[in-house]
Amino acid sequence: MADEHVPQGIDPTVPSVARMYDYYLGGKDNFRADREAAEQIVRIARESGSDVREIARANRGFLIRAVRHVAEAGVRQFLDIGTGLPTQDNVHQVVQRVAPESKVVYVDNDPIVLVHAQALLADNPGTFVVEGDLRRPGDILKAAAAHLDFDRPVAIVVAAVLHFVQDDDEVARIVSTLRDALAPGGYLALSHGYIEPEAGDPGRIDEARGVYRRSASGSIAWRDRETVRGYFDGLELLEPGIVPAQEWHNDDPYVPPELAKGGVLAGVGRLPGPASS
Ligand SMILES: C[S@@+](CC[C@H](N)C(=O)[O-])C[C@H]1O[C@@H](n2cnc3c(N)ncnc32)[C@H](O)[C@@H]1O
Repeated sequence: MADEHVPQGIDPTVPSVARMYDYYLGGKDNFRADREAAEQIVRIARESGSDVREIARANRGFLIRAVRHVAEAGVRQFLDIGTGLPTQDNVHQVVQRVAPESKVVYVDNDPIVLVHAQALLADNPGTFVVEGDLRRPGDILKAAAAHLDFDRPVAIVVAAVLHFVQDDDEVARIVSTLRDALAPGGYLALSHGYIEPEAGDPGRIDEARGVYRRSASGSIAWRDRETVRGYFDGLELLEPGIVPAQEWHNDDPYVPPELAKGGVLAGVGRLPGPASS
């Protein structure tokens, strides 16, 4: 994005995690401050033997495979919280290829994401964009209920966004509110940043946190497998369980060695019971 075309109300000097992620994925919807912050993260990760671009691609790959899988299982309603900027394959494109009647509600708290999403979706009758903050999940569910029927199965997607909420108890409360909104046959697809305990150099982790602290989202919290597993309490965890994002239902056996030290953990859970049609 050329720095001179800054939409009204946007401060291009404050990095946005949505635009940093867009940069990791090779997108063009980012400003200089986003690129500089992202490059710092790329460097810190490289010094730790990791590769943030591979991590972002692995996460995005999980998200696409997860929503396709759920659509193939028959779900026709999707709530994607922390949507991110449009990229190659967006949730509505993936699920509407499986079933064109699928409805998708996109939610984000970044105004630029909302502007792009609205432009992309202008002609798509099954998709809706809602401004919302994950830290107020009740408001999100209320707004989404204008478009989705929560008495029938909905797939709630929270990919690479919960780690921007710092307080562990708050994250647990958010996830439990979202899980409680699921009808039998509904799904939770979730991914979250993690670092293998032996790979985490505290100095570098602090440095990376410092970069994210200067972003509009205000820092990042990596969490461990047990914590992420707990987010699926009460749900039937689909095989292969909680795994690094690149391993979830991926037929491509190649795993970049840089991903061995951490990245994004991912899983999909289903609320048991017969789905009402
Ligand atoms: C790393 S991107 C992930 C995008 C997409 N979910 C994916 O996995 O490819 C994180 C997204 O979450 C959004 N986000 C961060 N904090 C949020 C919050 N509190 N409420 C809603 N969205 C948030 C950011 O604006 C950004 O679009």
